[in-house]
Amino acid sequence: MKQRNLYIKTFGCQMNERDSEIIAQLLHGSGFIPVHDMDAADLIILNTCSIRAKAEQKVYSLLGQLRQYKLKNPDLLISVAGCVAQQEGERIQRKMPHVDLVVGTQQLYRLPEMIRRLDNGAHHLKPAVDISATFAIPSIRKLTGPAPEAGLPFPAGGEIRKFVTIMQGCNNYCSYCVVPYTRGREISRPVADILDEVGMLAARGVREITLLGQNVNSYGQTNPVADRPVDFPALLHRVARTEGLRRLRFTTSNPKDLSDRLMRCFAEIDILCPNFHLPVQSGSDRILQRMNRKYTVADYLDKVRNLRRYHPDITLSTDMIVGFPGETDEDFEQTMLLLETVRFHSSFSFKYSDRPRTRSATFGEKVPEQVKAARLGRFQARQDSISLERNREYVDRVVEVMVEGAGKNNLLQGRAATNHIVHFPEPPGSSFSPGDMVMVRINRAGQHSLAGTMLMEDSERD
Ligand code: SAH
Ligand code: SF4
Ligand code: F3S
Repeated sequence: MKQRNLYIKTFGCQMNERDSEIIAQLLHGSGFIPVHDMDAADLIILNTCSIRAKAEQKVYSLLGQLRQYKLKNPDLLISVAGCVAQQEGERIQRKMPHVDLVVGTQQLYRLPEMIRRLDNGAHHLKPAVDISATFAIPSIRKLTGPAPEAGLPFPAGGEIRKFVTIMQGCNNYCSYCVVPYTRGREISRPVADILDEVGMLAARGVREITLLGQNVNSYGQTNPVADRPVDFPALLHRVARTEGLRRLRFTTSNPKDLSDRLMRCFAEIDILCPNFHLPVQSGSDRILQRMNRKYTVADYLDKVRNLRRYHPDITLSTDMIVGFPGETDEDFEQTMLLLETVRFHSSFSFKYSDRPRTRSATFGEKVPEQVKAARLGRFQARQDSISLERNREYVDRVVEVMVEGAGKNNLLQGRAATNHIVHFPEPPGSSFSPGDMVMVRINRAGQHSLAGTMLMEDSERD
């Protein structure tokens, strides 16, 4: 088989990151070797994101630049995958005729076959587009074959943290969001597949798993197969029993489906990390309603209180949209008030942008760009200072850190269960590998990370 170079550029969320790994794994079987240099590629795949207007613009701007690459090397194959591919379909090739393949979010698995057809001279059959829906994530065995060891190293050597997709799509139709259109209907993966994949990863040295879905809280409500119904808390308990696994995380959760049973998992499951990404989107009930989020600020605060009751050390992060259509100064002040009330450890905040097919794109009272920018600036400045204040609470505390590898300034870098990045010097004469657990006394806190010194003896611990 002819060996060729594959360059994948991934945009957007962790689900796309995981999909890119799957693409690399699939194409490995067709003789494609991943490379880090786009100039060396025989096949370039852009795995795209459409969540905000800017994300989509980035894709088109890179595709524009790729025209030159194609002129220089007519044998180069260019493929667009992911959410922009799903949303735009054939329009991509109409705008960018140098694109060879467009593959939707549920058709990744057809890539090898689509490439084979191009190799066999089917270029004239353009457009080569497949954005149809298949409601199933194939099992990992289907990807790797019965003997995964024979395929692409999975994971690549030394990786200790991995994502496992547990569901695809979303049925929530938040009024601003393109995901239900780009990822399709919500569907859960069979429990057995998930346990199989996690087990295989743990057996290969992975120590931390993050379960992925757009709304993991509703896992199991949409089982495609005659699987015994298992809800998300039950799934967590089962995954947590995987031998060799040290840490378990999940993302993302819509607060409307956050049950008491799930919150209790933070008290019940030792390896479940006390860190929760719980996107709130706005601090105004009026805006939450227009967003179709189906909870109020009071509901949200109630859940925050309960989470902290089940695990007092839990760190919370969130997503916030500013400048949603109709957001007044007063609504925005309520968002700032929510920030002060919860004091999130960190947050991702965005200026609202209209997305194709979404309901809010048709709403009036659009907020002017400068107002959005000013609100975002104010929100982010306050979040930055809160993050620093929050991180300073860790000074003088001892935290358990999973070593990830070399960090900056000759320090080791690792991660606390709370998801803080922690830097510390490697004690002389010792040697640590990724995945090792060490205790670190924190002596410095920055906005995005902590620093400290490692404790050598159990007796030094608090
Ligand atoms: N499933 C997650 C969100 C995934 S999208 C949830 O339900 O919370 C990631 C984030 O992008 C969202 O939380 C939201 O804050 C932001 N986002 C989505 N659509 C947007 C839009 N049209 N404009 C600005 N930000 C948006
Ligand atoms: Fe989008 Fe809402 Fe689904 Fe999250 S829950 S992916 S914001 S529609
Ligand atoms: Fe983007 Fe699609 Fe993820 S729109 S955020 S890549 S699900």
